Amino acid sequence: MNELSQFPLRRMRRLRAHDFSRRLVAENQLTVDDLIYPMFVLEGSGRIEEVSSMPGVFRYSIDELVKEVKEIEALGIPVIDLFPYVELDKKSLGAEEAYNDDGLIQRAIRAIKAACPDIGVMTDVALDPFTTHGQDGIIDDNGYVLNDVSVEVLVKQALSHLEAGADVISPSDMMDGRILAMRQAFEKAGFVNAQIMAYSAKYASCFYGPFRDAIGSNGNIKGGNKKTYQMDPANGREALQEVGLDIQEGADMVMIKPGMPYLDLVRQTKDAFGVPTFAYQVSGEYAMQMAAFQNGWLDERSTVMESLLCFKRAGADGILTYFAKRVAQWLNEKK
Ligand code: PBG
Repeated sequence: MNELSQFPLRRMRRLRAHDFSRRLVAENQLTVDDLIYPMFVLEGSGRIEEVSSMPGVFRYSIDELVKEVKEIEALGIPVIDLFPYVELDKKSLGAEEAYNDDGLIQRAIRAIKAACPDIGVMTDVALDPFTTHGQDGIIDDNGYVLNDVSVEVLVKQALSHLEAGADVISPSDMMDGRILAMRQAFEKAGFVNAQIMAYSAKYASCFYGPFRDAIGSNGNIKGGNKKTYQMDPANGREALQEVGLDIQEGADMVMIKPGMPYLDLVRQTKDAFGVPTFAYQVSGEYAMQMAAFQNGWLDERSTVMESLLCFKRAGADGILTYFAKRVAQWLNEKK
């Protein structure tokens, strides 16, 4: 009997024995360039309000938002994603405020572009902050969200963001054909370099609860859910169909949402299409982690860093996360 055979020939632990070799063989890395920072904006001036279900996440009036974006830019985060907190009297059945050239988001984009011309400005395109019923589109008498009518309004909303100076349009509405309609309208209007990051596989998820609180649409979603347009969490292959369609229709980047429970689809999307693929670590994922940190049940820094690295390992090119600012600070400290 070979004397060696009583020993393992391949000791997988060898390369784990030292910090230098662990670093040397690391397959994936998280950098500041991978981060997208979602931010909430509200009317008024000098206002900063914490979202109660999302400790450490704030809504800013435009003047305060600009100060915050300057910090985000200095940290090296490439792009922010804007969401509005819309006052009740601005909401309507037709969501007209969504494409008001002088609306909150449109003014916020202009203010940011004037103060921080280099940071990427992405905007969420969907009607839920602007409808009285909290659905992402226009409804009929039975509360059903009408597809093609909604797409027309979404196109107007997206164009008004581009006119204000937005760089990336991020449709999160899940209507059919909206990417094609937007792409054609953008080309026609001369916005040939307008980027589209499509929420391609967006699920009807309970993990969005705290976000609806953040934008003030909590509790008033007519029908109680968005299952007639957002995807069923039971379905995986359907996500690839959605991604394929959005790419065909003219999306530059695609997104899977929520994040951690849906990493299988990040991997499958990246492998099947090879396009820039992003994931959204959503409000509920943030809130769950924060609750554990605040109770002392998990360590904040190591848990957040591990969770974001896992997105990279699954194939994500970047992550939308409410932790982006803290993560950028940690990554910059390390240098
Ligand atoms: C709007 C939109 C939602 C989120 C992003 N854009 C909520 C929803 O679809 O109900 C969720 C983000 C989060 O939970 O962090 N359509």
